[in-house]
Amino acid sequence: MQVTKRLFMMNALAMLGAFVFTLLAAIIFLGFYPKVVGTDTNLNEVQRVLDVQSGFGELTRMAASMTFEELLEDQYQQELSDRVRTLGGNAVIVRNRNVVYSASPMSSVDIERSLLLTDQAAGLDTLELGGTPYAFARTDYEIAPGERGVLLLLAPIPVHTNVYLIFGLVTVGVFVLTFLLFNLGVSYWFSRTITAPVSRLREAAARIREGDLSRGIAEEGEGEVLELSRTLELMRIKLKESIELQEKYDENRSFLVSSISHDLKTPMTSIKGYIEGILDGVAQTPEKLQQYLETARAKTVLVNAMIDDLLLYSKLDLNQLSYHMERTDLVSYFQDCILDYQYEYSQAGKRLRLHNELNGSVSVRIDRERMKRVVQNILDNARNYIQKGEGEVVIILRQTPATAVIEIRDNGQGIPEADLPRIFERFYRVDPARNRTDGSGLGLAIAKQIVEGHEGKIWALSKVGQGTRMMISLRMDGQGRGAP
Ligand SMILES: Nc1ncnc2c1ncn2[C@@H]1O[C@H](COP(=O)(O)OP(=O)(O)OP(=O)(O)O)[C@@H](O)[C@H]1O
Ligand SMILES: [Mg+2]
Repeated sequence: MQVTKRLFMMNALAMLGAFVFTLLAAIIFLGFYPKVVGTDTNLNEVQRVLDVQSGFGELTRMAASMTFEELLEDQYQQELSDRVRTLGGNAVIVRNRNVVYSASPMSSVDIERSLLLTDQAAGLDTLELGGTPYAFARTDYEIAPGERGVLLLLAPIPVHTNVYLIFGLVTVGVFVLTFLLFNLGVSYWFSRTITAPVSRLREAAARIREGDLSRGIAEEGEGEVLELSRTLELMRIKLKESIELQEKYDENRSFLVSSISHDLKTPMTSIKGYIEGILDGVAQTPEKLQQYLETARAKTVLVNAMIDDLLLYSKLDLNQLSYHMERTDLVSYFQDCILDYQYEYSQAGKRLRLHNELNGSVSVRIDRERMKRVVQNILDNARNYIQKGEGEVVIILRQTPATAVIEIRDNGQGIPEADLPRIFERFYRVDPARNRTDGSGLGLAIAKQIVEGHEGKIWALSKVGQGTRMMISLRMDGQGRGAP
């Protein structure tokens, strides 16, 4: 709900709440006041007072429309007397301070006193005679110049007017108090859901302005404030991502520059050495010359492969390569891989075979060419680390309920436990000295990028002296699961 709407509703509720409480307080007051104060005031007595007032009101209105002479008519006086008696009161008609009519007997002192009090206390509708409170109503007549007439209605009332004052004070007090309390509640709600979150948002915005994007912005508040906090958080995430991407670009650029200068330096220096050797006439026989040139050529092939790896890795790292995913049957794909590498392995006197533990045909969605690159890296590594003769690499295909797991197991030298978590880092080599000259050291880093590009996982298990198990898990393609 919008904040303004909510605020309006809360205020209306506060007002309504105050009214309800005031009403309750009034009812409780009328019910309990007599017991607490000790007077015999009760609802009936209040009713009586109201009756007297309304009866007097009616008689006064009637009298106001009559002349003084008409008041003196017997018929009127009879009616007047009946009506004031039913109200338990008295009616007195006075002409120039002389009592010309009194519905019931009343001492002249009381009449004089009443006239005096009612004359002075304009607006007050009660007076006190001999300790008893009376309600009164008075109508004045100008009979002739200098001649005045008065109709005075009097009735003793059981409740002293003070009760009205207390009643008024209590109701007004309760109203003001409850209204204030409800408003306090509204203000608390407003501060908790609007003011406090807004000030936190302001602080968050200031942090973003200062470049601190690390702290998330909590979703809080109501209505527009909640939306604002969400938008600001999205903005922070987007900004952070774009800054991180920028940093990654920068890091990648410097990575490329530094790797090109460092890793390509060794083969380039040796190429330079061989060519200089030829130019200086060190290779004196045609065989020697041929050998130098062959070596230089082999080094250029290596440099080429390294540059290819570097560019591929950098593109993968920046997500600049798109994948061409195809539904692929796992067994036939790896049978093809085995065929591709069988010759190389047998030439090196090593064995390579496939072991299928899948239940039926299993398909995965892969970019076949890029996945070949992964398999190639792993099979090249394995081949390098197994012994001629007894060395064997087995590709084992398994499945879990949702994934296909490919294990490429060798019985080579294995990888020390301490190095295991790092072999997927770029340029990481267990024995740097040994491998410095062949390969870029990016093989497994590239493999990891590609497998993760397939939303898969790659990890290694190894025991020194026993061999290495390279594990890849890929999500199975739903349609192919269990199909014949
Ligand atoms: N099957 C294995 N047995 C023993 N060690 C391995 C095995 N596979 C990888 N390693 C170790 O992990 C390191 C990283 O392998 P990676 O393939 O990333 O680089 P590389 O093979 O040295 O270079 P490149 O693959 O670019 O030719 C290797 O240098 C090697 O020390
Ligand atoms: Mg390798």
